Amino acid sequence: MFRLQTTTALRNISVLSLKASRNYSTIPLSVKIDLPNGITYDQPTGLFIDGKFVPSRQHKTFEVINPSTEEEILHIYEAREDDVEIAVEAAQKAFDSTWSTADPEFRGRVLYKLADLIERDSEILAGIESLDNGKSLFCAKYDVNLVAKYIRSCAGWADKVYGRIIETGDSHFNYSKREPIGVCGQIIPWNFPLLMWSWKIGPALATGNTVVLKPAEATPLSALYVSKLVQEAGIPAGVVNIIPGFGKIVGERIATHQKIKKVAFTGSTATGRHIMKAAAESNLKKVTLELGGKSPNIVFNDADIKQTVQSLITGIFFNSGEICCAGSRIYVQDGVYDEVLKAFKEASESLKIGNPFEEGVFQGAQTSQMQVDKILQYVDIGKAEGATLIAGGERLNQKGYFIRPTIFADVKEDSRIVKEEIFGPVVTVSKFSTVDEAVKLANDSSYGLAAGIHTQDLNKAVDVSNRIKAGTVWINTYNDFHQQVPFGGYGESGIGREMGADALDNYTQVKGVRIAINKKTV
Ligand code: NAI
Ligand code: MG
Repeated sequence: MFRLQTTTALRNISVLSLKASRNYSTIPLSVKIDLPNGITYDQPTGLFIDGKFVPSRQHKTFEVINPSTEEEILHIYEAREDDVEIAVEAAQKAFDSTWSTADPEFRGRVLYKLADLIERDSEILAGIESLDNGKSLFCAKYDVNLVAKYIRSCAGWADKVYGRIIETGDSHFNYSKREPIGVCGQIIPWNFPLLMWSWKIGPALATGNTVVLKPAEATPLSALYVSKLVQEAGIPAGVVNIIPGFGKIVGERIATHQKIKKVAFTGSTATGRHIMKAAAESNLKKVTLELGGKSPNIVFNDADIKQTVQSLITGIFFNSGEICCAGSRIYVQDGVYDEVLKAFKEASESLKIGNPFEEGVFQGAQTSQMQVDKILQYVDIGKAEGATLIAGGERLNQKGYFIRPTIFADVKEDSRIVKEEIFGPVVTVSKFSTVDEAVKLANDSSYGLAAGIHTQDLNKAVDVSNRIKAGTVWINTYNDFHQQVPFGGYGESGIGREMGADALDNYTQVKGVRIAINKKTV
């Protein structure tokens, strides 16, 4: 499926051997990979620090797996604590010397260039995402398109960061200004490797910060590839540093580092909680978190059924269900319950799943064995809890981490499959009668990331959206992102907003300046 020009001796090293601290100083800093979509490209394997690809200090490596074949793609260098130190130093130097003090027009210009380069290489990038994450090329192309748009949007914001003039009478002149925070640590997950890279570095760079970013260990390839584009775009050395490695080592070091002034994290609520604690106990670095969800997707009797079923499908099966805002709790009003459930089952069973690179495939592979195990465990839990399995519930009978779109009905609202984030193509469907009941069910969660509402009645749509406790509400659509619309969580789904103008607030701090005016009479 792909060709490697590297030492075959590395092929058989398992993830477990990482923990044995073995050194492999022989891996090349770039490896040619043939993507299944016919593209050959050069994949960097080093850490990207201070504008260069370098081996990790200890020359440790880890393997990257292709979830569609369960085979190793290649080994890349693994960052450790000492690499974090070097990356932070480089980021601090760039912050002080070039980036935070630059004319914002310059920051905008190079970010525009970066967006153009992402578009130029969009086929390669989509291929890398599908290869490394397992998502269908269809989903990967969606991501890359949004990545380019979002980086371009951030470029546009770069010279629009404004303070205020504050009137307090003629004895003083007051103004406030928004300043960058400093070196930002960014830790991202494996479900949207490149999109999360863009949501993190875009607003940080636009506002004059520098970054040390750790991609997820399961999906480090795209963040390394775009580092070449960061170089080509003319972004100065040290502004962006990418250090692939493990959460408990590199992630932990980022969260506790004294010189890192802000940490932005996307991932599980448990790890987010831990990072917040680490930030509090180290230097009280600012924290933004984008965490888990168990989002309701509500269908009223007056919904357009065909459009709604499409929304239900996109809501839960887009990105193989590995999406924090997945519409994983469907609530259908009693008048259309049977009709919707039947149409939804049919639509889910007609989805093409399998090889992410194959034409027409909507749902690719789950990203890891760990995720497959977790999802199948929840299928068993659902059955044990007495829910009715309407569709799916099993792996495809072939190699690769493929799981059929899975629907449970007749669920109890306090059951684990309704309460807990599964993070896969598994959805529950429940019945309700009244608007008040729908709102109550929707809000009965410790999370609050997103919600969907399907109705033709605008009054009902706006009324219900006002009453839903979630950071994003989609009306007659779902998983429908736009680079200008903020995204983030209520409750245990997180702190802070990404995309749109609101994202900039996470990366600036306000300074108030008050000047006494010494009035002269002559
Ligand atoms: P995770 O939240 O532990 O991993 C996300 C990122 O955090 C990765 O880059 C990881 O290396 C890093 N990390 C892990 N431990 C860390 C630590 N102690 N300090 C600093 N960084 C750390 O999630 P994981 O283990 O990959 O997946 C477990 C479950 O989390 C999934 O089954 C899913 O339910 C949920 N999840 C939710 C995501 C979301 O966007 N809401 C994204 C990824 C996972
Ligand atoms: Mg992978």
